[in-house]
Amino acid sequence: MPVPCHTQAQALPVGDGLAEDGPSFNAAERAAVYRAIALRRDMRHFAPSPPLPDDQLQRLLQAAHAAPSVGLMQPWRFMRLSSPEWRARLQPLVEAERQRTAVALGERDTEFLQLKVDGIRDCAELLAVVLAPDDGTVFGRLSQPRQMAWCSAACAVQNLWLAARAENLGMGWVSMFDPAALASALSLPAGAEPLGLLCLGPVPAFYDRPMLETTGWRQGRPLGDMLMASPPLPSLSPPPSPV
Ligand SMILES: Cc1cc2nc3c(=O)[nH]c(=O)nc-3n(C[C@H](O)[C@H](O)[C@H](O)COP(=O)(O)O)c2cc1C
Repeated sequence: MPVPCHTQAQALPVGDGLAEDGPSFNAAERAAVYRAIALRRDMRHFAPSPPLPDDQLQRLLQAAHAAPSVGLMQPWRFMRLSSPEWRARLQPLVEAERQRTAVALGERDTEFLQLKVDGIRDCAELLAVVLAPDDGTVFGRLSQPRQMAWCSAACAVQNLWLAARAENLGMGWVSMFDPAALASALSLPAGAEPLGLLCLGPVPAFYDRPMLETTGWRQGRPLGDMLMASPPLPSLSPPPSPV
């Protein structure tokens, strides 16, 4: 099976950057990027901590804001909700969704309810990431406007996740909430949608594998399972006309 280009790139000899113009990465920098990607985890256990220093939070949000976005739409918005009052207000929304999830899971409900699914009460910072009301961007999203806006905002979250890991901070993406209830709690304007609650801060230790694996909930699959053979190339010539 042909191997996609991006996996071939990992097999290139590690040397100084190949680009002749503009900034490039040396071997140590390249290794650091791959290391942050490999060691990033979705974290739900946090160490007691004061709020993050403003300059550190600013760096992390700047990393999120550097994400790619469809048509340069930049649809992400961030809210800092770290006060004890906000945490107390939001935790019941997550708990309600957790209970609904358990019901939806059926026979695995008890097992599910034993999993820790958020660190809202104990993380140093609690952020909401919100999709802004549609600004009418057409470039790149003519046929899939919602999906491409959501994908762009997800890119911002991933940037934040990796930057946090590089700063030795954990982050957990909490998506267990009723979006209408959270939108109402956050007084979002019409058309804005909450994408996630992000728990951010120092952790006692990073999980060495996804927590869903170590708890036996589910095992991740290797890259090889995700590589698909390309289908036969459709013919461009018109079918022969019937005689
Ligand atoms: C869009 C999205 C939503 C998620 N929502 C939750 C959540 O509500 N609660 C939770 O415990 N984990 C949540 N996760 C974390 C995943 O369970 C986690 O990424 C996955 O198990 C792989 O683990 P890893 O991120 O440590 O590699 C979410 C992840 C993503 C990308």
